[in-house]
Amino acid sequence: MTAPKYRELAEQLREQYAQAPVGTPTPSERQLADDTGVSRMTARRAIDELVRSGLLTRAVGRGTFVTQPAMSVPLRLTSFTEDMRARGHVPSSRVLGLEVVRADERVAGVFGTVVGARVTLLSRLRLADDVPMAIERSHLRTDAFPGIERHDFGVESLYRVLAEEYGVRFEAGEQVIRAGLVRDEDTTTLAVAPGSPVLELARTTVAHGSVVEWTVSTYPASRFELSAQIAPLT
Ligand code: GLP
Repeated sequence: MTAPKYRELAEQLREQYAQAPVGTPTPSERQLADDTGVSRMTARRAIDELVRSGLLTRAVGRGTFVTQPAMSVPLRLTSFTEDMRARGHVPSSRVLGLEVVRADERVAGVFGTVVGARVTLLSRLRLADDVPMAIERSHLRTDAFPGIERHDFGVESLYRVLAEEYGVRFEAGEQVIRAGLVRDEDTTTLAVAPGSPVLELARTTVAHGSVVEWTVSTYPASRFELSAQIAPLT
C-alpha cells in the first residue's frame, strides 16, 4: 500500500525544512497546492501533520513558520547519545574543533587547577535525525586523559570513551541552565537567525573526587525543553 498523498508531501516538506532556520516562512496552503499540483485539502493535511510534530507553527494572521520540534532533555547524568536514542532519534555529531588550550581563570576555577594549565577543548555540533540541536564545548583536563585527541568524536560518544578507555565512573554532577542569545559565530551551525534566544547548559561532572568535565551546551531555545522528576517532600 502506498502512503497517502498528504503524508508523502509532509515527508518532502519535513526534509526541506529540517535544516531551515527557525522563523523561516512557509508557503500558504493555496500556494503549496499550486506549486505541487495537489488539492488544497492535501496541502492542508500535510501542513497540519508538520504543525502537530512541532516542525511548523501557525501564527494567526501572519502565516506558518519553521519552529523545529523541542527536544525534552532530562536532568540526569546521561550522555547526548543516550538521551537521543532513548527518545527514538538518531544522534550524530560534527567535530568543530579539538585542541589543547590554556585554562583561563574561569576554567581553572572549575577544575581547581592553576591558570595556564593544559585543558583539552572539544567542540561539537550535536544533531538528532540530522537536525542541529546544540553546540557542545567540552573542557577536559589534558593530563587526566592522555591521547584522547586520537578519538573520532564525529562517531564516538565522549562518555563512552571516558568510561571505556579511562575507567571514569561519575559520582556527581551539576547542571546550571541559563538563557542567552546565540553567539554570532554559532548562527549558521545551529541554523538559527542572528540574535535568537538560546539556553546554555553548563555541566560539571565529578569522578574519583575531581572534576573531569565541564561542558557548555548551547541549545536554540525553540529546540530545548527541560524535564525533571520532582521528588515529594519527605
Ligand atoms: C550531554 C551532556 C554533556 C556531555 C555529553 C556527552 O550532552 N550535557 O555534558 O559532554 O552529553 O555526550 P556523548 O557521550 O554523546 O558524546
